[in-house]
Amino acid sequence: MASSCSIALLVLLFAIFFTLPRFSVASNEFQVGGSKEWVVPSANDTNFYNDWASNNRFHVGDTISFKYKKDSVMEVGGADYTSCNATHPTLFSNSGNSVFKLDHSGTFYFISGASGHCERGQKMIVRVMNDESLPEHPKSSSYHVPIGVSQMIFFQFVLTCVGSYVI
Ligand SMILES: *[C@@H]1O[C@H](CO)[C@@H](O)[C@H](O)[C@H]1NC(C)=O
Ligand SMILES: *[C@@H]1O[C@H](CO)[C@@H](O)[C@H](O)[C@H]1NC(C)=O
Repeated sequence: MASSCSIALLVLLFAIFFTLPRFSVASNEFQVGGSKEWVVPSANDTNFYNDWASNNRFHVGDTISFKYKKDSVMEVGGADYTSCNATHPTLFSNSGNSVFKLDHSGTFYFISGASGHCERGQKMIVRVMNDESLPEHPKSSSYHVPIGVSQMIFFQFVLTCVGSYVI
């Protein structure tokens, strides 16, 4: 009868393991510019990327992807963003699909590395919010376990073991 007790113990351990609350927060991936992708904006719409960015809410852990052909993307400092100075970027990518993880709150500056593109508006400021100061992230999900499940299994375990000794 000791074996049914061990089986019950195993079941209990598994139940605890699989019902542990998972504190994962869903992160979002944004495609910069939506369907327009990463190109020189039209002459009458030079603020296109900052308009796009301010219509989205970015959180720590989100990623943004730039899709483009024959272009590039650089992360630069604020002054280089303003002056379109592409000589010393923090990050540079010309893979055609550049994915940046927004790994801290604050301001990120992106410019195109292609000659003349930044000056024509292919640049963007992304502000990443500090999640702690926000009441609720609409798309975040934390997994809550109904505590009753593990309690029930524990109770069953106790009964089984007590039963095995009584019998
Ligand atoms: C910008 O110009 C294009 C044509 O070059 C036009 O189709 C578009 O409607 C214009 N957009 C705005 C906001 O004026
Ligand atoms: C870009 O920044 C570097 C380093 O700060 C500086 O030496 C250079 O003159 C700048 N270029 C332009 C075009 O402003």
